[in-house]
Amino acid sequence: MLFLRPPGVYRPQGDTHLLTEELHRAGMPPGARVLDVCTGTGAVAMSAAGGGAGHVSAVDVSARAVYAARLNARLRGLRVRVVRGDLLGPFAGERFDVILSNPPYVPAVSGPPPAHGKARAWDAGGDGRALLDRICAHAPRHLAEGGMLMMVHSVLSGVEATLSALRDQGLKASVVARRNEPFGPVMRGRAAELRARGLIEPGQRDEELVVIRADRVESRS
Ligand SMILES: C[S@@+](CC[C@H](N)C(=O)[O-])C[C@H]1O[C@@H](n2cnc3c(N)ncnc32)[C@H](O)[C@@H]1O
Repeated sequence: MLFLRPPGVYRPQGDTHLLTEELHRAGMPPGARVLDVCTGTGAVAMSAAGGGAGHVSAVDVSARAVYAARLNARLRGLRVRVVRGDLLGPFAGERFDVILSNPPYVPAVSGPPPAHGKARAWDAGGDGRALLDRICAHAPRHLAEGGMLMMVHSVLSGVEATLSALRDQGLKASVVARRNEPFGPVMRGRAAELRARGLIEPGQRDEELVVIRADRVESRS
């Protein structure tokens, strides 16, 4: 599927496709309220909207991404509410049946995540967890009873850290999909640094992506 993509907006790729495939394999409750966090072109949100969701919302910190996602949805005749903001910040008090995210997760060579520029789509602090940890901390309180969070990231940014952060919030979390993807230009460009830090093996040319699913189990009362 082709998406309108202004300069600097993330091109949907292997991680995007792995997440949408897994969403459709899992299925959504009819009429589900869905939120796509870090929407970029809106590819994941539109996949949910076209797959039977009731109300789809999406958020991105980038003004260009918000513009692209709104336009892409409109061009397809899909209803998606796209807002500009920081992760779940704009959704105070709202609950969703499904929260989806393909956030920035690439371990950076140095410093905190950038505040501007195209690297904001992938750079995620030294350990790759700057955004993941915040999503794990805040998404659970936005899940309706019986709702699920589905998120994709690389094993390089720590699968156990994600699982235990979500379990600590009372969710039932597991890895539901894995796929090896060849390094793209960003990973190739920082391979030497990641190798020096022991994050990848000498000669490694691909990374494993995982989809993590976390369910808010209904309470019995
Ligand atoms: C890896 S891209 C994923 C884009 C899209 N979901 C996809 O799968 O193709 C990550 C996106 O997160 C956005 N982003 C980065 N920091 C953010 C933040 N603090 N709040 C919301 N979005 C953010 C970037 O602008 C970028 O569009």
